Amino acid sequence: NKYFVNRFRKGYVTVDGVTMPVRFKELQENILNWNVNEQDVWICSFPKTGTTWTQEMVWMILNDLDFEGGQVNLGARSPFLEVSALFDYRDLMRDVEGFDVPPFLNDSLKFVQNQKSPVCIKTHLPFNLLPKAIQDGTKRPKIIYIARNPKDTCLSYYHHAKLLEGYTGDFETFCRLFLANKLCFAPYWKHLLQFWNRRHEDNVLFLRYEDMKKDLPSAIRATAKFLEKDLNENQVDILTDHLSFDSMKKNPAVNYELVTELNKKYKLIEQEGMFMRSGSVGGYKTVMSPELIEEFDRWIRTNTKNTDFQFY
Ligand code: A3P
Repeated sequence: NKYFVNRFRKGYVTVDGVTMPVRFKELQENILNWNVNEQDVWICSFPKTGTTWTQEMVWMILNDLDFEGGQVNLGARSPFLEVSALFDYRDLMRDVEGFDVPPFLNDSLKFVQNQKSPVCIKTHLPFNLLPKAIQDGTKRPKIIYIARNPKDTCLSYYHHAKLLEGYTGDFETFCRLFLANKLCFAPYWKHLLQFWNRRHEDNVLFLRYEDMKKDLPSAIRATAKFLEKDLNENQVDILTDHLSFDSMKKNPAVNYELVTELNKKYKLIEQEGMFMRSGSVGGYKTVMSPELIEEFDRWIRTNTKNTDFQFY
């Protein structure tokens, strides 16, 4: 009955230089040939960089702070394009009697297609796996990228992998998988830099987790401006409260309690914990050995050498 256990990182392949689950191949053609609607907003990120936070911010701004509508699960309000490739819910249904898979997880491409525009599409796909129309610029929907420093990202990814993907190894081993670009959607740097290099295009907004932590109202104002939505200062204050870590941690529409509760109910994973874990900057310092930090820093220096990207 332990569906995910020992399945972590089974069946991964490299697709155009990106580590992807083998089932992604079933979706790839459809995504490449996607009929892109320029009214939609694409929220793009490497996993664990603040995607959920950004999705909730974008959805709320686009929907004029509709807190009632916002009680619907974020997975339905801002669907995750390729999620069907990550977990095989068909297998899961066969394994676990009575498992009720929400439609936004079961056939994610169809779900996204059936939404009324503007859809806030979430994707972890790097630029080179996005629809061809976006890559060649024939369609220019708004794209919001969220980046986070790789050490905190890796720590967050480790907890996520334990909580939702059945990872049972230790943290150091996980860090080595991260540095070796073996985790899903890696390489991290190619992912980030492809969007960073397009940050000046008028349909692209590049956000950083660390900036949102430091000054959330400014991030909200910049996002509203980019989305061509007017927010008064009172609305900025209200949204700042709504998007605080404590508020999001308590909000069942965004805190992934649906998925963690299912895991518990069907005893899929033994790991206890919450998706909204710590929401901090620099948390890696308390758990990463000095040697690993040094290795990460070397890796960061090497990968940013001929770029104008810097972490602060
Ligand atoms: P931690 O595991 O470091 O706590 P993603 O949505 O891309 O999977 O990213 C998840 C990370 O964003 C988690 O990081 C989560 O706690 C953090 N996060 C989610 N909402 C947040 C918020 N309102 N404020 C700060 N961090 C938040």
